[in-house]
Amino acid sequence: MSEDRALREQVEKLNRIGIALTSETNLKKLLGLIVREARRFTGADAGSLYILEDGKLFFHVAQNKTLSRRPDPPPGFKPYPLPLSKESIAGYVAITGEILNIEDVYGLAKRVPYSFNPEFDLRNKYLTRSMLVVPMKDREVEILGVLQLINAMDETDTPLPFPKSAERLVMSLASQAAVAIRNAKLIADIKALFEALIRYSASAIDARSPHTAGHSKRVAAYSRAIALAINEETAGAFVDVFFAPEQMEELSYAAWLHDIGKIGVPEQILDKENRLSREAMTAITTRFELIKALNAARIWQDTYIENKDELQGKGVHEQAVKVEREIEEDFSFIKKVNQSLFLSDKDLSALQAIASKTYKDLQGDAKPYLADREMESLSVRKGNLTDEEYKRIQTHVELTHNIVKNIPFTKTLENVPFFSASHHELLDGTGYPRGLKGDKIPVQPRILAVVDIFDALTAADRPYRRAIPPEKAGEILRAEAKAGRLDKDIVDLFLDKELYKL
Ligand SMILES: [Fe+2]
Ligand SMILES: [Fe+2]
Repeated sequence: MSEDRALREQVEKLNRIGIALTSETNLKKLLGLIVREARRFTGADAGSLYILEDGKLFFHVAQNKTLSRRPDPPPGFKPYPLPLSKESIAGYVAITGEILNIEDVYGLAKRVPYSFNPEFDLRNKYLTRSMLVVPMKDREVEILGVLQLINAMDETDTPLPFPKSAERLVMSLASQAAVAIRNAKLIADIKALFEALIRYSASAIDARSPHTAGHSKRVAAYSRAIALAINEETAGAFVDVFFAPEQMEELSYAAWLHDIGKIGVPEQILDKENRLSREAMTAITTRFELIKALNAARIWQDTYIENKDELQGKGVHEQAVKVEREIEEDFSFIKKVNQSLFLSDKDLSALQAIASKTYKDLQGDAKPYLADREMESLSVRKGNLTDEEYKRIQTHVELTHNIVKNIPFTKTLENVPFFSASHHELLDGTGYPRGLKGDKIPVQPRILAVVDIFDALTAADRPYRRAIPPEKAGEILRAEAKAGRLDKDIVDLFLDKELYKL
């Protein structure tokens, strides 16, 4: 082959590698790809890659064909930092930006500042001979790291020195790699920033009410546990379902953001512990004190001023005590109803009887014991929310959708708005906001529905009821699945594998 043609082929190869590198945005995969391509390009037996960060060299990738073929290949390793100094070969290249093409690392000249560390060779019974060590320079200015190629092999697997002609080509590959690394890092940084922003916003909204603090975080963690378990299924309903990394990410965002629309629901409703708001209860307490005082005053006035001739001191006192006791009983009953979870027919009639009572205010006008709004809150049959308040809370899903759909997600995350806003949909169509049924609800919102209910039941500080132990919550989930509202396979997986034990 003519030299010209060989060079042209090399350049073409280099171009192809460049394209492959720029299309890999996952930093870890990219680093592996760089070493693999550089080794293939030069016929190197082994290769490593160091990244320069915070004044240190981090050893990131080690590949070694000879060792990987042994029956006991060395185990994988975690990136670790090396001090940045001219005493190591990689350090020297990182500091000076020079390329080092070493024929034999065991025959280094005395005058060079760097030396070869034989520790790896000794530990692995490997023999390093030639090395081509190049800086990874971004736009020929900043050094991002060092690419180290070891033992250029001939056809018989004998190590040879790296040819001079490889230097420029590997330099060129290394600088393409540097650009790709910078881009991948930038993408990773933006992603981390975006994720943090989402987590903080969701956590801040959860924290508006002590009853929901940490809810979105737990929903995200449970959902992830379920998706990972689904990925491991080798039989059953989920055998064909697999969450690729992008889909895991999509599910995680949907989980973190599912209740973000609660930002639009007033705190008094979210935080409501009893049937009446704190303000309403304070108003009623004050009113009943006033009713008591006014009644007492009226009784004494009637007796001493209007009927002053009749001395009925004792009788008046008894009457006053009786009226006062009645008022206190009414008030105690209201307090009891305010805190109760269910309202019986008998209690409702008793409440109506109180509501129909009136008192005369300071101007002498007749006023009801209870205002219509207070009566509406108190006469809820189950729970502590009026229909209106309940509807108001339900609007959080539409608000979630409105907020999340305005986040410019990438194509791989395009379903986040739909998934997050469908976490209250139920399989039998009785959920909200759209009343979706059966297969219209994908697996992701089905997962969210299960874990959302589980967390609402088991969270320690939900309003108006104590935390339910996981076993009891599990029974409720199974009953919901049996009734056709929740996905039975998801419920079973979640409970049988105890995925709630994070
Ligand atoms: Fe919700
Ligand atoms: Fe929720």
